[in-house]
Amino acid sequence: MNKTVEVVPEQAALIQRSLDLILSKMETAIQERGLFTIALSGGSTPKPIYEAIATRSLPWDKIHVFWGDERYVPPDDPDSNYLMAGHAWLDKVDIPDSNIHPMPTDEADPAVAARKYEEHLREFFQTTVGDFPALDLILLGMGDDGHTASLFPHTEALKVRDRLITVGNKDSQPRITFTAPFINQGRCVMFVVAGANKRPALAQVFAPVADDLTYPSRLIKPQGELWWLLDLAAGQDLKLDNN
Ligand code: 6PG
Repeated sequence: MNKTVEVVPEQAALIQRSLDLILSKMETAIQERGLFTIALSGGSTPKPIYEAIATRSLPWDKIHVFWGDERYVPPDDPDSNYLMAGHAWLDKVDIPDSNIHPMPTDEADPAVAARKYEEHLREFFQTTVGDFPALDLILLGMGDDGHTASLFPHTEALKVRDRLITVGNKDSQPRITFTAPFINQGRCVMFVVAGANKRPALAQVFAPVADDLTYPSRLIKPQGELWWLLDLAAGQDLKLDNN
């Protein structure tokens, strides 16, 4: 694992650095493979990043957008990660609808929706059961409890090792989420974390020893690149051990 941790002074710099890194990975992916596959995170931190991407003139037909997790709500629900990314970015650019791959949230049973998304991913990436496809970039946030995607502390989703997609659970509200092993297949996994409220969890995630099930972001150890982009409020106390 090739880990880089960068602490930038404040939010504007964090958004710019995040955008620069995303565009760099996009350029490399399109040069090498003719397309760029990105999984989006939800929450509030990434919204200005999506807004910044929407201002760029990019080869939208070569860009495929997935979601790393989704709240189990209709696509027009204010809590929807799909809706947030649409308003901030995807509704503003000329990206083909077929390049946008939302997680289904219309099945009565979230486990069925998780299986449907997994089948969709396998079809898109032409992989068979047992293989874990590699996305070019997986964007992640981290909650102040140390969760990432919808991998919440001490939940069943943390134990799933043989699937790409599973059902997460936040305060008994179902989510659909990438599994930790699937995230770890990403060519580049990029956490963007801001705010002093994340500092205690970051200390545990970066600690040499701590419980992975209590701080699930510790489970993210990709074979490819791991980036942590932090603002000063979140990252000022961290010992930076880039390796
Ligand atoms: C979600 C996210 C989640 C998020 C963290 C951080 O669906 O909410 O995917 O994992 O990244 O909770 O959220 P903030 O960026 O709002 O702090």
